[in-house]
Amino acid sequence: MSAPLLDVKGLSVRIAGTSRDLVADVSFTLHPGETLCVVGESGCGKSLTALSLMGLLASPPLSVTGGEALFDGRDLLQMPLDQLQALRGDRMAMIFQEPMTSLNPALRVGDQIAESVQRHQGVSAKAARARALEMLRRVGIPAPESRLDAYPHNLSGGMRQRVMIAMALANDPALLLADEPTTALDVTIQAQILALMRDLQAQSGSAMILITHDLGVVAEMADKVAVMYAGRIVEFGTVAQIFEDPQHPYTIGLMSSMPTLGQRVARLVTIPGVVPQASQMPPGCRFASRCPFANASCAKTPDMTEVATGHRVACWQVPLEAGIDQRVSA
Ligand SMILES: Nc1ncnc2c1ncn2[C@@H]1O[C@H](COP(=O)(O)OP(=O)(O)OP(=O)(O)O)[C@@H](O)[C@H]1O
Ligand SMILES: [Mg+2]
Repeated sequence: MSAPLLDVKGLSVRIAGTSRDLVADVSFTLHPGETLCVVGESGCGKSLTALSLMGLLASPPLSVTGGEALFDGRDLLQMPLDQLQALRGDRMAMIFQEPMTSLNPALRVGDQIAESVQRHQGVSAKAARARALEMLRRVGIPAPESRLDAYPHNLSGGMRQRVMIAMALANDPALLLADEPTTALDVTIQAQILALMRDLQAQSGSAMILITHDLGVVAEMADKVAVMYAGRIVEFGTVAQIFEDPQHPYTIGLMSSMPTLGQRVARLVTIPGVVPQASQMPPGCRFASRCPFANASCAKTPDMTEVATGHRVACWQVPLEAGIDQRVSA
């Protein structure tokens, strides 16, 4: 297999004045062209993981306290700000849930895209504007010539999201990080945007980290899946391994929350109990208080063990005894 594009090892993030990691020992690799979906309940550290890689943590109070993230062989977590800024919007780009996070309300959308193209590719203003127009067309904006001079507030939410994608992809990034890119949109637009992202990714060969709550989106988009719980990856595998052979009790709970055939949207709400507060993170397995299989051994943090090629689980109780599905979903 080719060398990974991104190799994250032991990434940890902490908030000043505390001793518990909000992101704890997160490790994964991503190869060119692959899509990794990161799933898990609200507050489990998905966004902080992505923001750490982009060098966009709110620091202080947050900071990376350990690990490395090799991108093209260079550690993003140690990179000087000027080098990171040169990478952002160029070799790597991020799409947010709320387009106004990355769009400037005071600039025409064509100028925003063109400015990014000019900055990173050093082309003429005319060539950059032509690229902006091409990108607006590629993301399916109707009458793109006239939209070049629109301001973000002139556009609908779905159109703004398309503009943000156009901007993110304008310089053909090798890595795209997308944090809940369609959650704020209605279901029809959401499906269109996801299809668009898949097409553009297939054309450009870029890798993607897609953060989502929605297991329907995971099933549709992912090659690999990282399941996070309270700051840790508890299970990692291919989409088939995670959906057809989930091993961690939390993942099994998530899968049993999938709606029956025909319904697309699945929300991660059916496991009893709540995620521990960052300030009260238990030592050992962070899922133990909600886990029907927990015993005394769970007071120690579980090692990640490989249960099949590329399929890793952090649980002392794996392999679980028969009848697990009934116990988790009861
Ligand atoms: N700037 C911050 N200061 C303090 N705590 C923060 C900050 N940002 C995030 N956190 C905390 O870190 C934890 C992880 O947050 P994160 O935003 O990564 O969660 P998430 O998995 O993206 O959740 P969601 O699905 O709701 O977007 C949460 O407990 C959150 O409250
Ligand atoms: Mg988030």
